[in-house]
Amino acid sequence: MTEMLTGDHAEVDALFRDLWREFDRGGAHAVFERLDYLWARLAVHVRAEHLHLFPALLAASGRSQGQGKDDAPASGEVRAAVEHLREDHDFFMRELAGAVNAARELAAQDGPPDRERLLHIRGRASAVAERLAEHNRMEEQQVYLWPVALLTESELDTLRGGMKREIENLPPRFSGGAPR
Ligand SMILES: [Fe+2]
Ligand SMILES: [Fe+2]
Repeated sequence: MTEMLTGDHAEVDALFRDLWREFDRGGAHAVFERLDYLWARLAVHVRAEHLHLFPALLAASGRSQGQGKDDAPASGEVRAAVEHLREDHDFFMRELAGAVNAARELAAQDGPPDRERLLHIRGRASAVAERLAEHNRMEEQQVYLWPVALLTESELDTLRGGMKREIENLPPRFSGGAPR
């Protein structure tokens, strides 16, 4: 499961690199398309953590307090981490949605895009990328290791299945994959 989630982080990182290249080219429509896709990819990842990973960790940490394996985190530690990660998720979704909308408006205008507005959109996306790097580090080095320490084999299977379904559940308009 760790590999699936870590691999998904790497895919989103690659989408950010494509996005920066698109900003350098300066076309508002292409920026909009890449931002929109990136937003959708990150949204399914966030939803998978939100709907499956966090509830499973919270439930298991409450249950196994004091009798877990040596490497199992204390329930207070799990709660604090989940709360922190959720706040990050809210920030990512809010800021990216704002950037997508601004890019959509810019792309709908005639003529060459306004440099200032494009830079402003880039700034919002780059604030997300910076906080996301720290967020992903915390997940990969800590939180993603917890399911194995806290859950039973069958709970792990259920969690894996739920996360995979969610991550693969992109809106149909993105079925063609990343914009070319
Ligand atoms: Fe996350
Ligand atoms: Fe994540």
